[in-house]
Amino acid sequence: MFDRIRISPSILSSDFMNLEREVRSCEEAGADWLHVDVMDGHFVPNLTIGVPVESQLASIARIPLDVHLMISNPLVQLPWFLTCKPAVVTVHWEALGRDGASAVDDAREVVRIVHEAGSKAGIALKPDTPVDVLAPTIDAWDMVLVMSVFPGFSGQSYIPESAERVGRVAALARAAGTAPLIQVDGGMNATTAAYVGAQGADVIVAGNGIFKADDRAAAIEGIRCSAERSRSAAKEA
Ligand code: DX5
Ligand code: ZN
Repeated sequence: MFDRIRISPSILSSDFMNLEREVRSCEEAGADWLHVDVMDGHFVPNLTIGVPVESQLASIARIPLDVHLMISNPLVQLPWFLTCKPAVVTVHWEALGRDGASAVDDAREVVRIVHEAGSKAGIALKPDTPVDVLAPTIDAWDMVLVMSVFPGFSGQSYIPESAERVGRVAALARAAGTAPLIQVDGGMNATTAAYVGAQGADVIVAGNGIFKADDRAAAIEGIRCSAERSRSAAKEA
C-alpha cells in the first residue's frame, strides 16, 4: 500500500485538440499518474485512442502512464501498447479466456508479457464480475482495478457497491499474503473517494472530476485528502 493515495487523471475527459497542454496541466496540478483509456469499439461500445496517441503521450509526459486497455484481444494487441514502455498496463479479466483458452492461463501469459517489457501488470474487473475470479492469480498482479462504473464512457455515476468490492479485493490479497495496488475508476470525486479510501484503495482515477473542475489542483487534492482521511479513520476504528 502507498503511504500517499495516488491520483491518476483520465485523459479521456480532456480537450483532445490540446493534449500536451492538458498533460502539463495535470502535472502542474499534482497528478501522480496519467490514465490512458483505450477502447476498441468492441469490448466496449466506445472507440477512443490507440497506439500512436499513447506513444506520443508517453514521449511528453513527465509522470508515469497508466494504460487501461478496454479491448477484446489483449494477448494480440498488448505488445503494441507496451512498446512505449508505460509504467502500468491493465487488461480486463472479462477479455481473457476467449476462444476456448483458460482465463487463468491467459492471465499468467499477460503478466509474463507485461513484465518482460518492464511494465507493471494490472487486472481490471467490471462491476458485475465476481471478485473471487481473481483468487487463482491474485499473487501475480501488481495492481487490481476495481471498476466503479461499467467501462465505456466518462462522466457516469459511481456504483455504490464498489467500495465493498474494493474491501473484498484487499481481503483476498491479504489472505493470499500479497498486496497488489488497488485502483478504482469511474465516478470518482471527493465524496466517492472517501468510500473507497476506507476500504483500501491506493490509486484513484478521475476524469470529469478533475478535467471539468475550475481548479484542477484543488480537485486532485480534494479527492486525495478525502480518501486519505477516510482511510485513516477506518484504520483507527
Ligand atoms: C470508463 C473509463 C474511466 C473514465 C473515468 O470506461 O475507464 O477511466 O474515463 O471518467 P469519470 O471519472 O468521469 O467517470
Ligand atoms: Zn479507465
